[in-house]
Amino acid sequence: MNRREFIKGSIALTAGLMIDPFGGITMAESNQKWWQRTVFYQIYAKSFNDANGDGVGDLRGIIARLDYLQSLNVGAIWITPIYPSPMVDNGYDISDYTTIDPRYGTMSDFDELIEEARARGIKIIMDLVYNHSSDRHPWFVESKSDRSNPKADWYIWRDAVDGHEPTNWRSIFGGSAWTWSAERQQYYLHTFAKEQPDLNWENPAVRRALYDSARSWIDRGVGGFRIDAIVYIKKPSKFVNGTPDGADGMINIHTMTANTDGILDFLHEFKRECFDGRDIVTVGEANSVKPSQLKDWVGTDGVFDMLFEFSHLGLGIENEVWCRPRRWKLTELKSALTASQQATAQNGWYPIFFENHDQPRGVNQYFASDADPIKAARALATVLLTMRGTPFIYEGQELGVTNVNRSSIDEYEDIQTHAQYEFALKEGLTATEALECVQTRSRDNARLPIDWSKATPVNNPVLMWYLELTDFRLAHEELLSGTYKELLPRDEQIFAFERTLGTKKLITAVNFSTSEAKLPKSFAELKILLGSEHNPEPLKLRPLEARIYRG
Ligand code: GLC
Repeated sequence: MNRREFIKGSIALTAGLMIDPFGGITMAESNQKWWQRTVFYQIYAKSFNDANGDGVGDLRGIIARLDYLQSLNVGAIWITPIYPSPMVDNGYDISDYTTIDPRYGTMSDFDELIEEARARGIKIIMDLVYNHSSDRHPWFVESKSDRSNPKADWYIWRDAVDGHEPTNWRSIFGGSAWTWSAERQQYYLHTFAKEQPDLNWENPAVRRALYDSARSWIDRGVGGFRIDAIVYIKKPSKFVNGTPDGADGMINIHTMTANTDGILDFLHEFKRECFDGRDIVTVGEANSVKPSQLKDWVGTDGVFDMLFEFSHLGLGIENEVWCRPRRWKLTELKSALTASQQATAQNGWYPIFFENHDQPRGVNQYFASDADPIKAARALATVLLTMRGTPFIYEGQELGVTNVNRSSIDEYEDIQTHAQYEFALKEGLTATEALECVQTRSRDNARLPIDWSKATPVNNPVLMWYLELTDFRLAHEELLSGTYKELLPRDEQIFAFERTLGTKKLITAVNFSTSEAKLPKSFAELKILLGSEHNPEPLKLRPLEARIYRG
Protein backbone atom coordinates (compact mmCIF):
# COMPACT_ATOMS: atom_id res chain seq x y z
CA MET A 1 0.00 0.00 0.00
CA ASN A 2 1.53 3.36 -0.93
CA ARG A 3 1.40 6.42 1.31
CA ARG A 4 -1.61 7.86 -0.45
CA GLU A 5 -3.68 4.67 -0.14
CA PHE A 6 -2.58 4.35 3.45
CA ILE A 7 -3.78 7.82 4.38
CA LYS A 8 -7.04 7.39 2.51
CA GLY A 9 -7.64 4.01 4.11
CA SER A 10 -7.09 5.51 7.51
CA ILE A 11 -9.58 8.26 6.89
CA ALA A 12 -12.22 5.81 5.72
CA LEU A 13 -11.58 3.83 8.86
CA THR A 14 -11.95 6.95 10.97
CA ALA A 15 -15.34 7.73 9.55
CA GLY A 16 -16.57 4.18 10.06
CA LEU A 17 -15.08 3.14 13.36
CA MET A 18 -14.38 6.47 14.99
CA ILE A 19 -10.72 5.61 15.50
CA ASP A 20 -8.32 8.26 14.32
CA PRO A 21 -4.71 7.13 14.10
CA PHE A 22 -3.54 10.71 13.51
CA GLY A 23 -5.20 13.20 15.79
CA GLY A 24 -6.92 11.25 18.55
CA ILE A 25 -10.19 13.12 17.96
CA THR A 26 -13.06 11.63 16.03
CA MET A 27 -15.70 13.36 13.94
CA ALA A 28 -18.31 12.64 16.60
CA GLU A 29 -16.15 14.13 19.34
CA SER A 30 -15.11 17.13 17.32
CA ASN A 31 -18.77 17.95 16.73
CA GLN A 32 -18.03 19.07 13.22
CA LYS A 33 -20.24 18.68 10.18
CA TRP A 34 -19.13 16.85 7.05
CA TRP A 35 -18.58 20.12 5.17
CA GLN A 36 -16.10 21.34 7.76
CA ARG A 37 -13.91 18.28 7.28
CA THR A 38 -13.46 18.13 3.55
CA VAL A 39 -12.19 20.08 0.56
CA PHE A 40 -14.56 21.82 -1.85
CA TYR A 41 -13.88 22.22 -5.55
CA GLN A 42 -15.56 24.80 -7.78
CA ILE A 43 -16.43 23.95 -11.37
CA TYR A 44 -17.23 26.61 -13.95
CA ALA A 45 -19.54 24.45 -16.02
CA LYS A 46 -18.75 25.95 -19.40
CA SER A 47 -15.00 25.47 -19.27
CA PHE A 48 -14.36 22.48 -17.02
CA ASN A 49 -14.54 19.42 -19.22
CA ASP A 50 -16.25 18.91 -22.56
CA ALA A 51 -17.27 15.27 -23.05
CA ASN A 52 -19.27 15.58 -26.28
CA GLY A 53 -16.78 17.73 -28.18
CA ASP A 54 -19.07 20.69 -28.85
CA GLY A 55 -16.63 23.12 -27.26
CA VAL A 56 -18.65 23.61 -24.08
CA GLY A 57 -18.15 21.77 -20.80
CA ASP A 58 -20.96 19.43 -19.76
CA LEU A 59 -22.28 17.15 -17.03
CA ARG A 60 -20.81 14.02 -18.59
CA GLY A 61 -17.47 15.82 -18.64
CA ILE A 62 -17.80 16.35 -14.89
CA ILE A 63 -18.70 12.69 -14.35
CA ALA A 64 -15.57 11.71 -16.28
CA ARG A 65 -13.40 13.70 -13.87
CA LEU A 66 -14.89 12.46 -10.59
CA ASP A 67 -12.07 9.97 -9.97
CA TYR A 68 -9.57 12.78 -10.41
CA LEU A 69 -11.47 14.97 -7.94
CA GLN A 70 -11.68 12.10 -5.49
CA SER A 71 -7.90 11.72 -5.64
CA LEU A 72 -7.68 15.38 -4.56
CA ASN A 73 -9.76 14.48 -1.49
CA VAL A 74 -12.65 16.61 -2.74
CA GLY A 75 -15.87 16.01 -0.77
CA ALA A 76 -18.12 18.57 -2.45
CA ILE A 77 -18.30 20.19 -5.86
CA TRP A 78 -19.92 23.59 -6.35
CA ILE A 79 -21.04 23.88 -9.95
CA THR A 80 -21.78 27.36 -11.32
CA PRO A 81 -25.32 27.70 -12.78
CA ILE A 82 -26.33 24.96 -15.21
CA TYR A 83 -29.98 26.00 -15.60
CA PRO A 84 -31.43 27.17 -18.93
CA SER A 85 -30.01 30.57 -19.70
CA PRO A 86 -29.61 32.98 -22.63
CA MET A 87 -25.98 33.22 -21.40
CA VAL A 88 -25.68 36.97 -21.27
CA ASP A 89 -23.79 36.46 -18.00
CA ASN A 90 -22.77 32.86 -18.59
CA GLY A 91 -25.62 31.21 -16.74
CA TYR A 92 -26.10 33.83 -14.02
CA ASP A 93 -29.12 34.96 -16.07
CA ILE A 94 -31.53 32.09 -15.53
CA SER A 95 -34.71 31.58 -17.54
CA ASP A 96 -35.92 28.44 -15.70
CA TYR A 97 -34.91 27.56 -12.15
CA THR A 98 -36.25 24.03 -12.28
CA THR A 99 -34.26 22.18 -14.92
CA ILE A 100 -30.88 21.76 -16.66
CA ASP A 101 -29.80 23.64 -19.78
CA PRO A 102 -29.56 21.15 -22.69
CA ARG A 103 -26.08 22.44 -23.55
CA TYR A 104 -24.91 20.82 -20.29
CA GLY A 105 -26.96 17.65 -20.55
CA THR A 106 -30.25 16.23 -19.34
CA MET A 107 -31.94 15.73 -16.00
CA SER A 108 -30.95 12.09 -16.16
CA ASP A 109 -27.28 13.07 -16.68
CA PHE A 110 -27.71 15.22 -13.60
CA ASP A 111 -29.15 12.34 -11.57
CA GLU A 112 -26.28 10.18 -12.74
CA LEU A 113 -23.79 12.85 -11.68
CA ILE A 114 -25.31 12.93 -8.20
CA GLU A 115 -25.17 9.13 -7.96
CA GLU A 116 -21.64 8.78 -9.33
CA ALA A 117 -20.44 11.55 -7.04
CA ARG A 118 -22.20 10.01 -4.05
CA ALA A 119 -20.47 6.70 -4.79
CA ARG A 120 -17.15 8.53 -4.37
CA GLY A 121 -18.15 10.39 -1.21
CA ILE A 122 -18.70 13.65 -3.09
CA LYS A 123 -21.74 15.96 -2.82
CA ILE A 124 -23.00 18.25 -5.55
CA ILE A 125 -23.61 21.89 -4.60
CA MET A 126 -25.84 23.97 -6.86
CA ASP A 127 -25.68 27.73 -7.42
CA LEU A 128 -28.87 29.65 -6.56
CA VAL A 129 -29.21 32.96 -8.38
CA TYR A 130 -32.19 34.53 -6.65
CA ASN A 131 -31.47 38.25 -6.69
CA HIS A 132 -32.41 38.36 -10.38
CA SER A 133 -33.59 36.17 -13.21
CA SER A 134 -33.07 36.44 -16.95
CA ASP A 135 -35.25 38.96 -18.80
CA ARG A 136 -36.39 35.91 -20.81
CA HIS A 137 -37.74 34.15 -17.75
CA PRO A 138 -41.51 33.73 -18.26
CA TRP A 139 -42.04 35.57 -14.96
CA PHE A 140 -40.42 38.70 -16.37
CA VAL A 141 -42.08 38.34 -19.74
CA GLU A 142 -45.42 38.36 -17.91
CA SER A 143 -44.41 41.09 -15.51
CA LYS A 144 -43.51 43.53 -18.26
CA SER A 145 -46.53 42.68 -20.40
CA ASP A 146 -48.84 44.97 -18.43
CA ARG A 147 -49.34 46.52 -15.03
CA SER A 148 -52.38 44.44 -14.17
CA ASN A 149 -50.77 41.07 -14.88
CA PRO A 150 -50.71 38.76 -11.78
CA LYS A 151 -46.91 38.90 -11.90
CA ALA A 152 -46.81 42.69 -12.42
CA ASP A 153 -45.20 43.11 -9.02
CA TRP A 154 -42.64 40.28 -9.30
CA TYR A 155 -39.88 42.70 -10.34
CA ILE A 156 -39.02 46.26 -9.34
CA TRP A 157 -40.82 48.79 -11.52
CA ARG A 158 -40.84 52.58 -11.24
CA ASP A 159 -42.23 55.47 -13.27
CA ALA A 160 -39.85 57.83 -15.02
CA VAL A 161 -38.88 60.90 -13.01
CA ASP A 162 -38.94 64.09 -15.14
CA GLY A 163 -38.67 61.89 -18.18
CA HIS A 164 -35.61 59.94 -17.05
CA GLU A 165 -34.32 57.17 -14.77
CA PRO A 166 -35.64 57.22 -11.18
CA THR A 167 -32.10 57.40 -9.69
CA ASN A 168 -28.48 57.84 -10.76
CA TRP A 169 -27.46 54.30 -9.81
CA ARG A 170 -24.93 52.55 -12.04
CA SER A 171 -25.39 48.82 -12.50
CA ILE A 172 -22.47 46.53 -11.67
CA PHE A 173 -22.10 45.72 -15.36
CA GLY A 174 -22.09 49.37 -16.42
CA GLY A 175 -24.64 51.97 -17.51
CA SER A 176 -27.76 52.88 -15.58
CA ALA A 177 -29.28 50.26 -13.24
CA TRP A 178 -32.66 51.22 -14.74
CA THR A 179 -33.92 50.13 -18.16
CA TRP A 180 -37.04 51.43 -19.84
CA SER A 181 -39.67 48.94 -20.93
CA ALA A 182 -41.58 50.34 -23.90
CA GLU A 183 -44.19 47.66 -23.34
CA ARG A 184 -45.02 48.57 -19.78
CA GLN A 185 -43.97 52.23 -20.00
CA GLN A 186 -41.94 51.99 -16.82
CA TYR A 187 -38.34 51.45 -15.73
CA TYR A 188 -37.21 48.19 -14.12
CA LEU A 189 -34.23 47.83 -11.79
CA HIS A 190 -31.27 45.59 -12.45
CA THR A 191 -28.24 45.37 -10.16
CA PHE A 192 -26.30 43.62 -12.92
CA ALA A 193 -26.97 43.61 -16.70
CA LYS A 194 -30.22 44.89 -18.20
CA GLU A 195 -30.94 41.27 -19.12
CA GLN A 196 -30.86 40.40 -15.37
CA PRO A 197 -33.91 42.16 -13.83
CA ASP A 198 -34.00 42.11 -10.01
CA LEU A 199 -36.74 40.02 -8.44
CA ASN A 200 -39.01 41.73 -5.93
CA TRP A 201 -38.35 39.88 -2.66
CA GLU A 202 -40.98 42.04 -0.90
CA ASN A 203 -43.60 40.00 -2.73
CA PRO A 204 -44.31 36.76 -0.78
CA ALA A 205 -45.35 34.93 -3.96
CA VAL A 206 -41.88 35.53 -5.42
CA ARG A 207 -40.21 34.18 -2.30
CA ARG A 208 -42.47 31.12 -2.30
CA ALA A 209 -41.62 30.32 -5.93
CA LEU A 210 -37.90 30.63 -5.22
CA TYR A 211 -38.10 28.45 -2.11
CA ASP A 212 -40.04 25.81 -4.07
CA SER A 213 -37.31 25.55 -6.65
CA ALA A 214 -34.56 25.29 -3.99
CA ARG A 215 -36.50 22.49 -2.26
CA SER A 216 -36.94 20.64 -5.54
CA TRP A 217 -33.14 20.42 -5.92
CA ILE A 218 -32.73 19.19 -2.37
CA ASP A 219 -35.33 16.49 -3.08
CA ARG A 220 -33.27 15.53 -6.11
CA GLY A 221 -30.28 14.86 -3.87
CA VAL A 222 -28.05 17.92 -3.97
CA GLY A 223 -25.80 18.46 -0.98
CA GLY A 224 -26.32 22.18 -0.67
CA PHE A 225 -26.14 25.58 -2.29
CA ARG A 226 -23.87 28.48 -3.05
CA ILE A 227 -26.18 31.48 -3.00
CA ASP A 228 -25.33 34.22 -5.47
CA ALA A 229 -25.23 37.98 -4.92
CA ILE A 230 -27.45 37.63 -1.88
CA VAL A 231 -26.62 41.01 -0.32
CA TYR A 232 -28.72 42.78 -2.96
CA ILE A 233 -32.12 41.14 -2.37
CA LYS A 234 -33.37 43.83 0.03
CA LYS A 235 -33.79 47.30 -1.42
CA PRO A 236 -33.95 50.53 0.59
CA SER A 237 -37.45 51.81 1.37
CA LYS A 238 -36.77 55.03 -0.55
CA PHE A 239 -34.89 55.22 -3.81
CA VAL A 240 -32.69 58.34 -3.77
CA ASN A 241 -29.77 59.67 -5.79
CA GLY A 242 -26.25 59.19 -4.46
CA THR A 243 -23.13 61.32 -4.81
CA PRO A 244 -21.57 60.38 -8.16
CA ASP A 245 -18.40 58.28 -7.94
CA GLY A 246 -17.39 58.43 -11.60
CA ALA A 247 -17.14 60.74 -14.59
CA ASP A 248 -20.50 59.38 -15.81
CA GLY A 249 -22.36 61.18 -12.98
CA MET A 250 -23.58 57.90 -11.50
CA ILE A 251 -22.92 55.95 -8.31
CA ASN A 252 -22.31 52.22 -8.03
CA ILE A 253 -25.61 50.58 -7.05
CA HIS A 254 -23.66 48.49 -4.57
CA THR A 255 -23.09 51.58 -2.42
CA MET A 256 -26.83 52.32 -2.37
CA THR A 257 -28.41 48.89 -1.90
CA ALA A 258 -25.98 46.25 -0.59
CA ASN A 259 -26.77 44.72 2.79
CA THR A 260 -29.81 46.95 3.45
CA ASP A 261 -31.44 46.76 6.89
CA GLY A 262 -34.11 44.10 6.98
CA ILE A 263 -32.24 41.71 4.69
CA LEU A 264 -31.73 39.22 7.51
CA ASP A 265 -35.50 38.86 7.97
CA PHE A 266 -35.76 37.54 4.42
CA LEU A 267 -32.79 35.28 4.96
CA HIS A 268 -34.10 33.79 8.20
CA GLU A 269 -37.31 32.93 6.38
CA PHE A 270 -35.31 31.42 3.49
CA LYS A 271 -33.39 29.30 5.98
CA ARG A 272 -36.52 28.16 7.82
CA GLU A 273 -38.30 27.26 4.60
CA CYS A 274 -35.46 25.53 2.78
CA PHE A 275 -32.46 24.64 4.90
CA ASP A 276 -33.50 23.89 8.47
CA GLY A 277 -33.57 20.23 9.40
CA ARG A 278 -31.83 19.16 6.19
CA ASP A 279 -28.28 17.88 6.01
CA ILE A 280 -27.10 20.38 3.43
CA VAL A 281 -24.46 23.08 3.32
CA THR A 282 -25.14 26.71 2.42
CA VAL A 283 -22.56 29.29 1.38
CA GLY A 284 -23.74 32.82 0.68
CA GLU A 285 -21.88 35.21 -1.61
CA ALA A 286 -21.82 38.37 0.41
CA ASN A 287 -19.71 41.21 -0.86
CA SER A 288 -19.60 43.94 1.84
CA VAL A 289 -20.65 41.96 4.89
CA LYS A 290 -17.87 42.95 7.28
CA PRO A 291 -16.05 40.56 9.61
CA SER A 292 -17.79 42.30 12.54
CA GLN A 293 -21.20 41.43 11.03
CA LEU A 294 -20.36 37.79 10.32
CA LYS A 295 -21.97 36.58 13.54
CA ASP A 296 -25.40 37.64 12.23
CA TRP A 297 -24.85 35.72 9.01
CA VAL A 298 -23.15 32.47 10.05
CA GLY A 299 -23.00 30.36 13.20
CA THR A 300 -25.84 29.52 15.57
CA ASP A 301 -27.72 32.77 15.10
CA GLY A 302 -26.82 33.16 11.46
CA VAL A 303 -28.55 32.27 8.23
CA PHE A 304 -25.87 30.38 6.26
CA ASP A 305 -23.19 27.86 7.13
CA MET A 306 -20.47 29.92 5.48
CA LEU A 307 -20.13 33.22 3.72
CA PHE A 308 -17.87 34.27 0.90
CA GLU A 309 -17.04 37.76 2.06
CA PHE A 310 -14.71 39.88 -0.01
CA SER A 311 -12.41 41.56 2.50
CA HIS A 312 -9.25 39.97 1.08
CA LEU A 313 -10.23 40.35 -2.60
CA GLY A 314 -9.64 43.45 -4.63
CA LEU A 315 -6.72 44.70 -2.53
CA GLY A 316 -5.08 45.58 -5.83
CA ILE A 317 -7.82 48.00 -6.98
CA GLU A 318 -9.77 50.92 -5.51
CA ASN A 319 -13.44 50.31 -4.83
CA GLU A 320 -13.73 47.44 -7.32
CA VAL A 321 -12.85 49.69 -10.26
CA TRP A 322 -10.41 47.74 -12.38
CA CYS A 323 -8.71 50.81 -13.84
CA ARG A 324 -7.88 52.24 -10.42
CA PRO A 325 -4.95 50.08 -9.34
CA ARG A 326 -3.59 50.39 -5.82
CA ARG A 327 -0.45 49.10 -4.19
CA TRP A 328 -1.04 46.74 -1.34
CA LYS A 329 1.05 45.05 1.26
CA LEU A 330 1.12 41.49 2.52
CA THR A 331 0.14 42.75 5.99
CA GLU A 332 -3.20 43.93 4.52
CA LEU A 333 -3.96 40.48 3.10
CA LYS A 334 -2.96 38.81 6.33
CA SER A 335 -4.99 41.11 8.53
CA ALA A 336 -8.08 40.78 6.30
CA LEU A 337 -7.93 36.99 6.52
CA THR A 338 -7.13 37.05 10.23
CA ALA A 339 -10.10 39.34 10.96
CA SER A 340 -12.43 36.85 9.27
CA GLN A 341 -10.76 33.98 11.11
CA GLN A 342 -11.27 35.76 14.42
CA ALA A 343 -14.85 36.69 13.63
CA THR A 344 -15.75 33.06 12.96
CA ALA A 345 -13.48 31.50 15.59
CA GLN A 346 -16.01 30.88 18.35
CA ASN A 347 -19.12 30.61 16.31
CA GLY A 348 -19.32 30.06 12.61
CA TRP A 349 -17.11 28.75 9.89
CA TYR A 350 -15.05 30.27 7.13
CA PRO A 351 -14.74 29.26 3.45
CA ILE A 352 -11.10 29.77 2.52
CA PHE A 353 -10.70 30.82 -1.10
CA PHE A 354 -8.39 32.85 -3.26
CA GLU A 355 -9.83 32.13 -6.68
CA ASN A 356 -13.23 31.78 -8.27
CA HIS A 357 -14.85 32.48 -11.64
CA ASP A 358 -14.97 36.24 -10.92
CA GLN A 359 -11.34 36.71 -9.89
CA PRO A 360 -8.04 36.80 -11.77
CA ARG A 361 -5.87 33.76 -11.18
CA GLY A 362 -4.27 33.73 -7.71
CA VAL A 363 -0.71 33.56 -9.00
CA ASN A 364 -1.27 36.88 -10.79
CA GLN A 365 -3.37 38.50 -8.08
CA TYR A 366 -1.32 37.79 -4.97
CA PHE A 367 2.29 37.73 -6.16
CA ALA A 368 4.77 40.07 -7.85
CA SER A 369 4.90 39.90 -11.63
CA ASP A 370 8.41 38.37 -11.52
CA ALA A 371 7.24 35.48 -9.30
CA ASP A 372 7.88 31.95 -10.58
CA PRO A 373 4.30 30.82 -11.31
CA ILE A 374 4.80 27.24 -10.11
CA LYS A 375 6.34 28.29 -6.83
CA ALA A 376 3.70 30.99 -6.34
CA ALA A 377 0.88 28.50 -6.96
CA ARG A 378 2.41 26.15 -4.40
CA ALA A 379 2.86 28.96 -1.88
CA LEU A 380 -0.80 29.98 -2.16
CA ALA A 381 -1.93 26.36 -1.93
CA THR A 382 -0.07 25.97 1.36
CA VAL A 383 -2.03 28.80 2.96
CA LEU A 384 -5.31 27.64 1.40
CA LEU A 385 -4.96 24.10 2.70
CA THR A 386 -3.67 24.78 6.19
CA MET A 387 -5.91 27.65 7.34
CA ARG A 388 -8.97 27.21 9.53
CA GLY A 389 -12.17 26.70 7.56
CA THR A 390 -13.25 24.80 4.47
CA PRO A 391 -10.83 25.22 1.55
CA PHE A 392 -12.29 25.90 -1.91
CA ILE A 393 -10.10 24.99 -4.87
CA TYR A 394 -11.18 26.67 -8.11
CA GLU A 395 -10.85 24.58 -11.28
CA GLY A 396 -7.33 24.77 -12.66
CA GLN A 397 -5.88 26.33 -9.51
CA GLU A 398 -4.49 22.90 -8.62
CA LEU A 399 -2.83 22.76 -12.05
CA GLY A 400 -1.15 26.14 -11.65
CA VAL A 401 -3.21 27.93 -14.30
CA THR A 402 -2.34 31.63 -14.71
CA ASN A 403 -3.95 34.66 -16.41
CA VAL A 404 -3.84 34.81 -20.20
CA ASN A 405 -3.67 38.25 -21.83
CA ARG A 406 -5.63 38.92 -24.96
CA SER A 407 -4.45 41.55 -27.42
CA SER A 408 -7.77 43.22 -28.15
CA ILE A 409 -10.94 43.98 -26.19
CA ASP A 410 -12.92 42.14 -28.89
CA GLU A 411 -11.35 38.87 -27.78
CA TYR A 412 -12.98 39.13 -24.35
CA GLU A 413 -16.32 37.45 -23.81
CA ASP A 414 -17.20 38.46 -20.27
CA ILE A 415 -19.84 41.18 -19.95
CA GLN A 416 -18.16 42.81 -16.95
CA THR A 417 -14.86 43.04 -18.82
CA HIS A 418 -16.54 45.13 -21.50
CA ALA A 419 -18.27 47.29 -18.89
CA GLN A 420 -15.03 47.98 -17.03
CA TYR A 421 -13.26 48.75 -20.32
CA GLU A 422 -15.91 51.30 -21.31
CA PHE A 423 -15.79 52.82 -17.83
CA ALA A 424 -12.00 53.17 -18.06
CA LEU A 425 -12.31 55.00 -21.40
CA LYS A 426 -14.89 57.37 -19.86
CA GLU A 427 -12.48 58.01 -17.00
CA GLY A 428 -9.99 59.27 -19.59
CA LEU A 429 -7.70 56.26 -20.03
CA THR A 430 -6.32 55.47 -23.48
CA ALA A 431 -7.46 52.28 -25.21
CA THR A 432 -4.08 50.68 -24.48
CA GLU A 433 -4.30 51.57 -20.79
CA ALA A 434 -7.88 50.35 -20.56
CA LEU A 435 -6.88 47.06 -22.20
CA GLU A 436 -4.07 46.61 -19.68
CA CYS A 437 -6.57 46.98 -16.83
CA VAL A 438 -8.86 44.33 -18.21
CA GLN A 439 -5.97 42.00 -18.98
CA THR A 440 -5.08 42.10 -15.29
CA ARG A 441 -8.60 41.75 -13.90
CA SER A 442 -10.82 40.14 -16.54
CA ARG A 443 -13.07 37.34 -15.34
CA ASP A 444 -12.20 35.51 -18.57
CA ASN A 445 -8.79 34.78 -17.05
CA ALA A 446 -10.47 32.18 -14.89
CA ARG A 447 -12.93 30.94 -17.48
CA LEU A 448 -10.75 29.43 -20.19
CA PRO A 449 -11.12 25.70 -20.93
CA ILE A 450 -8.98 23.55 -18.65
CA ASP A 451 -6.10 21.86 -20.43
CA TRP A 452 -6.38 18.34 -19.05
CA SER A 453 -3.11 17.24 -20.60
CA LYS A 454 -1.48 19.14 -17.70
CA ALA A 455 -3.29 17.06 -15.09
CA THR A 456 -0.70 14.41 -14.30
CA PRO A 457 1.09 14.67 -10.98
CA VAL A 458 4.38 13.39 -12.43
CA ASN A 459 4.56 16.30 -14.87
CA ASN A 460 2.85 18.92 -12.78
CA PRO A 461 4.57 20.00 -9.58
CA VAL A 462 1.59 22.17 -8.61
CA LEU A 463 -0.84 19.25 -8.80
CA MET A 464 1.63 17.04 -6.93
CA TRP A 465 1.73 19.62 -4.14
CA TYR A 466 -2.07 19.84 -3.97
CA LEU A 467 -2.31 16.05 -3.68
CA GLU A 468 0.22 16.06 -0.86
CA LEU A 469 -1.38 18.97 0.93
CA THR A 470 -4.95 17.67 0.77
CA ASP A 471 -3.74 14.31 2.15
CA PHE A 472 -1.78 16.14 4.82
CA ARG A 473 -4.75 18.28 5.80
CA LEU A 474 -7.11 15.38 6.23
CA ALA A 475 -4.54 13.42 8.21
CA HIS A 476 -4.00 16.21 10.75
CA GLU A 477 -6.83 16.92 13.10
CA GLU A 478 -5.15 20.22 14.11
CA LEU A 479 -5.81 21.48 10.58
CA LEU A 480 -9.41 20.33 10.56
CA SER A 481 -10.57 21.53 13.92
CA GLY A 482 -7.70 23.36 15.60
CA THR A 483 -7.58 27.04 16.46
CA TYR A 484 -5.88 29.66 14.30
CA LYS A 485 -3.39 32.24 15.48
CA GLU A 486 -1.49 34.58 13.22
CA LEU A 487 2.29 34.73 13.70
CA LEU A 488 4.67 37.49 12.57
CA PRO A 489 1.74 39.87 11.87
CA ARG A 490 4.00 42.78 10.87
CA ASP A 491 6.19 40.79 8.48
CA GLU A 492 5.80 42.00 4.87
CA GLN A 493 7.26 38.85 3.33
CA ILE A 494 6.14 35.89 5.41
CA PHE A 495 2.57 34.66 5.97
CA ALA A 496 2.74 32.54 9.11
CA PHE A 497 0.22 31.09 11.51
CA GLU A 498 -0.24 28.26 13.93
CA ARG A 499 -3.04 25.72 14.20
CA THR A 500 -3.46 24.19 17.63
CA LEU A 501 -5.55 21.40 19.04
CA GLY A 502 -4.91 20.38 22.65
CA THR A 503 -1.20 19.74 22.89
CA LYS A 504 -0.69 19.44 19.15
CA LYS A 505 0.43 22.32 17.02
CA LEU A 506 1.32 22.87 13.37
CA ILE A 507 2.93 26.02 12.03
CA THR A 508 2.70 27.27 8.45
CA ALA A 509 5.27 29.72 7.13
CA VAL A 510 5.12 30.91 3.52
CA ASN A 511 7.35 33.47 1.86
CA PHE A 512 5.05 35.48 -0.42
CA SER A 513 7.89 37.62 -1.74
CA THR A 514 10.37 37.07 -4.55
CA SER A 515 13.38 37.63 -2.30
CA GLU A 516 14.83 35.60 0.54
CA ALA A 517 13.09 36.06 3.90
CA LYS A 518 14.42 35.59 7.43
CA LEU A 519 12.57 33.59 10.05
CA PRO A 520 12.85 34.34 13.77
CA LYS A 521 15.36 32.23 15.74
CA SER A 522 12.61 30.22 17.44
CA PHE A 523 11.94 28.47 14.11
CA ALA A 524 15.33 26.74 14.33
CA GLU A 525 13.93 24.34 16.93
CA LEU A 526 10.94 23.29 14.87
CA LYS A 527 10.75 20.15 12.78
CA ILE A 528 9.69 20.60 9.14
CA LEU A 529 6.97 18.11 8.22
CA LEU A 530 6.36 19.31 4.68
CA GLY A 531 8.37 21.78 2.61
CA SER A 532 8.14 23.03 -0.94
CA GLU A 533 11.95 23.14 -1.35
CA HIS A 534 14.98 21.19 -0.23
CA ASN A 535 16.51 24.08 1.64
CA PRO A 536 19.10 23.28 4.32
CA GLU A 537 18.92 26.79 5.85
CA PRO A 538 16.65 26.58 8.91
CA LEU A 539 16.12 30.32 9.29
CA LYS A 540 15.91 31.44 5.68
CA LEU A 541 12.97 30.98 3.36
CA ARG A 542 13.80 31.12 -0.32
CA PRO A 543 11.55 33.21 -2.58
CA LEU A 544 8.02 31.72 -2.44
CA GLU A 545 9.11 28.82 -0.24
CA ALA A 546 6.44 27.20 1.93
CA ARG A 547 6.92 25.05 5.02
CA ILE A 548 4.73 23.31 7.53
CA TYR A 549 6.36 22.62 10.90
CA ARG A 550 5.41 20.56 13.89
CA GLY A 551 5.09 23.26 16.60
C1 GLC B 1 -22.10 36.86 -8.73
C2 GLC B 1 -21.46 35.83 -9.63
C3 GLC B 1 -21.05 36.49 -10.90
C4 GLC B 1 -22.28 37.03 -11.57
C5 GLC B 1 -23.06 37.95 -10.65
C6 GLC B 1 -24.44 38.19 -11.16
O1 GLC B 1 -21.22 37.83 -8.31
O2 GLC B 1 -20.39 35.20 -8.95
O3 GLC B 1 -20.35 35.63 -11.76
O4 GLC B 1 -21.92 37.73 -12.73
O5 GLC B 1 -23.21 37.40 -9.36
O6 GLC B 1 -25.23 37.06 -11.02
